[in-house]
Amino acid sequence: MIERILPEWAATAEEFGDVPEDTLFPEERPLVARATGMRRREFVTGRHCARQALSRLGVPPGPIPRGERGAPVWPPGTVGSITHCSGYRAAAVAEGRVAAAIGIDAEPHGPLPSGVLPTVASPGEIAALGALGPGACWDRILFSAKEAVYKVWFPLTRRWLDFAQAVVEIDPDGGFTASLLVADPAMGTRTLGGRWLVSDGLVATAIALPR
Ligand SMILES: CC(C)(COP(=O)(O)OP(=O)(O)OC[C@H]1O[C@@H](n2cnc3c(N)ncnc32)[C@H](O)[C@@H]1OP(=O)(O)O)[C@@H](O)C(=O)NCCC(=O)NCCS
Repeated sequence: MIERILPEWAATAEEFGDVPEDTLFPEERPLVARATGMRRREFVTGRHCARQALSRLGVPPGPIPRGERGAPVWPPGTVGSITHCSGYRAAAVAEGRVAAAIGIDAEPHGPLPSGVLPTVASPGEIAALGALGPGACWDRILFSAKEAVYKVWFPLTRRWLDFAQAVVEIDPDGGFTASLLVADPAMGTRTLGGRWLVSDGLVATAIALPR
């Protein structure tokens, strides 16, 4: 699913179930030592997907530590992103000489819980979603797109980005544009183009920022 919304130079892997916990590397086990249930399973399978995707770039299996603010620490010369939600886990990676950053996000394809949309979208963004008409849960797609924006933004800038600091415009044909309202030299651009897909009861969004 995720590969359909990423360029060919991105390597991806996804799972619709979970893999055994012994696929974790010893260095990763402390990262979920106090986690239980779903959190353990999504972490384990997310790391598995990341290693599978990296293997497609020729990177041998190894630990993927957790860095600042939860961002994965990718092997030297690579960039990537992990996402998980109920029934789905995925990773996308690329060579750092090709890509500056990748951000992916997956969500269940259903409306956001009541009251959430105004906390993640501006009145202008909400009005634009209303104009899209029926067809998909546009509020969920917008939310997912903003999560993907953050997963591109943070590894490059090492800074927080609030939901109000990017304006996302959804194209009903499967694209979206994010306009950043704050500048950072590490980004090199204030406009990010991404793609979205609804399939199998899920929404996936992806941004692949070329170097
Ligand atoms: C970090 C965040 C984006 C994760 O998104 P999510 O939908 O909750 O969860 P997902 O399953 O899709 O992604 C989780 C994975 O994201 C990755 N991640 C976590 N923090 C990250 C960061 N700071 N930068 C990049 N990737 C990060 C991790 O790999 C994590 O999985 P892991 O802990 O198992 O390794 C979200 O929790 C968050 O903090 N959002 C607020 C910031 C934001 O979205 N701003 C909007 C800007 S327009």
